[in-house]
Amino acid sequence: SLTNSERAIITTIWDKMSMQADVIGTETLERLFSSYPQTKTYFPHFDLHPGSPQLRAHGSKVMAALGDAVKNIDNVEVALTKLSELHAYVLRVDPVNFKLLSHCLLVTLAAHFPADLSAEVHAAWDKFLSLVSSILTEKYR
Ligand code: HEM
Repeated sequence: SLTNSERAIITTIWDKMSMQADVIGTETLERLFSSYPQTKTYFPHFDLHPGSPQLRAHGSKVMAALGDAVKNIDNVEVALTKLSELHAYVLRVDPVNFKLLSHCLLVTLAAHFPADLSAEVHAAWDKFLSLVSSILTEKYR
């Protein structure tokens, strides 16, 4: 689990990100779908062209869920229970895709906040996304 200093780092970087949450969410999905086109198979019902309204709306939803996780950083499992059930039982997203999405979000953060992405911040944020991903995929087991 996360140390106190990791929690502090995550909260700080989130405060910056959240001001541009929509831009960051959209760019993360654009990177996901262009670098890893196989991920598009989960969204056959979406217009996935860069900047499409559906892509932007979905990027906002993903970021809002991460915001909930940050706000409940001591209790992320409870905060994400419903989403965990959705991804496992309804959407059946293969867990490998969570690593790809996490990577694209990290790259997007590095592109937007290059001065903030020290090795320490990188590591803390990576750990947080691993935690979120493991919660969203734990119902599979
Ligand atoms: C839906 C969050 C990873 C595929 C959603 C929703 C949220 C969300 C908030 C909307 C739920 C609702 O409408 O009630 C997240 C978070 C993730 C993540 C926080 C990881 C950090 C993934 C991955 C994939 C995926 C890796 C597949 C590549 C989907 C699909 C939907 C969905 C297909 C339904 C879209 C729709 O029809 O509206 N996700 N997700 N998610 N997610 Fe995820």
